[in-house]
This record gives sequence, C-alpha cells and structure tokens, in this order.
Amino acid sequence: MFQGEKVILRPVRREDLPLLNQFNNDVEVELAGGGDPPMPQPLPMLEAEYEQSWSKGGRDSANFVIEADGKCIGGCALFQFEATAQVCELGITIGDKEYWGQGYGRDAVRTLVHYGFQYRNLHKVFLRVHARNQRAIRAYRAVGFVEEGRLRAQVWSNGAYDDLIVMGMLREEWAAQR
Ligand SMILES: CC(C)(COP(=O)(O)OP(=O)(O)OC[C@H]1O[C@@H](n2cnc3c(N)ncnc32)[C@H](O)[C@@H]1OP(=O)(O)O)[C@@H](O)C(=O)NCCC(=O)NCCS
Repeated sequence: MFQGEKVILRPVRREDLPLLNQFNNDVEVELAGGGDPPMPQPLPMLEAEYEQSWSKGGRDSANFVIEADGKCIGGCALFQFEATAQVCELGITIGDKEYWGQGYGRDAVRTLVHYGFQYRNLHKVFLRVHARNQRAIRAYRAVGFVEEGRLRAQVWSNGAYDDLIVMGMLREEWAAQR
C-alpha cells in the first residue's frame, strides 16, 4: 500500500495474526519495546481484538503490517487521532529480530510519518519511548523526531525503573526535509 525504500506498509490480513501473535509473545521483543509488562497473549484474544476493530470500522487508528522481502516482519500504527489539534501518536514493533538494526525501522517510521502528514494532514506526530531503548531512539532521531520531554522513573521495565521520553515531529519539520 505504501512503499518505503526497504519496507511496504500494508493492511493487516487475517493470515498475519499467528505471526503477530508470536511476536507479541516473544519476551525479548516485548521487553525491547517497553510498553506493558510481558503477558501471555492467546491467539484467540488477538483474533477477537481484530474482529472487534474491523467490525467497529471507523478511522480512529491506522494499523499497518510492515512487510520486507515478501514477509510480515512486524507492525506499526498511528493512533489516538486528536481531531482538533491534528496530533496523533505513533507506535512500531519489528517482531522479527533478524531485521533489527538494519534500517528497516527508520524506513517504516519515515513511511508512516509521510502517510500521516501527506494524507491525513496531521500537524504533529508524537511517540513515547523508554530511555533505555537506545536503538529505537536512534531510529526516531534519524527520521527527524526530537525529544520534547522526559518523565523521570515513570516506567517499570524488566526489574528497574526507567525514564519515559516523549519525542515529536512537527509538520514543518517533515516538510523541510523534502
Ligand atoms: C525500535 C525499532 C523499530 C527500530 O528499528 P530498527 O530497524 O531496529 O532500527 P534502525 O536500524 O533503523 O536504527 C537503529 C539505530 O540504533 C543503533 N543500534 C542498533 N542496535 C543497538 C543497540 N543494541 N543499542 C543501541 N543502539 C543500537 C543502530 O546503529 C542505529 O543507529 P545509527 O543509524 O545512528 O547507527 C526495532 O528495533 C524494534 O521494533 N524493536 C523492538 C520493539 C521496539 O523497541 N519498539 C519501539 C518502542 S518505542
């Protein structure tokens, strides 16, 4: 659907769910991404969530599978659209660890941000990331996100507190790159 340099962002298909569920149950992936503590996620639970969001319809969030070399390597999304401010949040997980650290993440984020500004007329995209997640922070910086704030010792992850960093990118910053 949307072509980056290395990845394609396309809609989630029913047949992607077992692999996405495998990623969600990979503790290393879950801990790398921060977020909620690792929790077992049965496949029917993920299927039910998808059924629910499909049947609800609407355009509250834009969920994509990240495809590379013809296979699903993870997912990314824009969500929590704030209609008045034209601001939304970005999230990404590359679940296939073979693809970490090779520029796939930044390509997916760049493609997703382009979608947000070009097609959804956003004013700003922001994201939250744990301070320990330097791989993610470097990828976000490479796309043009800047640190906007830091909540000290805000999250408990893998046995220790960590700071939560908010990063953002404004429309004019995206436009200046083009
Ligand atoms: C975060 C994520 C999307 C980044 O995608 P990626 O393809 O791995 O990242 P990129 O290759 O584009 O960039 C990674 C950067 O971190 C660096 N890096 C790689 N491994 C690293 C490590 N273990 N520690 C610190 N930096 C690292 C790379 O050198 C690169 O930086 P540079 O270009 O300045 O040299 C992906 O790793 C991922 O999904 N991880 C698990 C889930 C997660 O962390 N999600 C984000 C939650 S906010």
